[in-house]
Amino acid sequence: HKLTITAICGSLREGSFNRRVLKAMEKLAPEHWEIHHADLSGIPLYNADTESQGDPPSVTEFKESIRQADGVLIVTPEYNSGIPGVLKNALDWASRPVKSSVLIEKPFAIAGATPGGGGTAQSQAQVRQTLLAMNAYTMPGPKILIGSVHEKLNQTTGELEDEATLRHLQSFLTAFEQWIHYFK
Ligand code: FNR
Repeated sequence: HKLTITAICGSLREGSFNRRVLKAMEKLAPEHWEIHHADLSGIPLYNADTESQGDPPSVTEFKESIRQADGVLIVTPEYNSGIPGVLKNALDWASRPVKSSVLIEKPFAIAGATPGGGGTAQSQAQVRQTLLAMNAYTMPGPKILIGSVHEKLNQTTGELEDEATLRHLQSFLTAFEQWIHYFK
């Protein structure tokens, strides 16, 4: 019973803390999960004129990775108390065409990390609202709000190694698998 999961990181930077959280999730994920990392770096700014000439290849690839996934995992930073533009832009592309988008009835789970104290709560709330508008099925909880993330990494390898955080991630992944099966 293989499970195909598409992972989206809301940050493009190489040393992203959120990408490290995704890496930790990948290590914790059960054997039967096949995680595919979506690449947002080549996705242009949404423009209906561009779209009317056909999706750019980066967008086609992004949509396809969501279409074939059993579930989509978003791990994102918070920018100015909200969703990073890079992520919103990618989701806007994926939301088209409105009546047959790959997001409709797709199970999602959201997590986020920040060196700050708020744990990306406001960003995640906006992602949730965006996905609701797109008729995706976003898991209500458990919530992963990782604050002071820079203090939770191994200073040499950069890997997330905070025991309590790893335990939370484990229950989050278990809950997400159950969430996906509600709709299968
Ligand atoms: C931030 N950062 C930030 N952090 C936060 O907790 N709340 C916020 O509102 C903001 N706002 C914000 C705006 C902009 C434009 C930037 C560039 C950054 C800090 C942010 O959490 C930090 O840069 C993280 O390291 C970004 O995530 P990655 O790239 O490490 O995954």
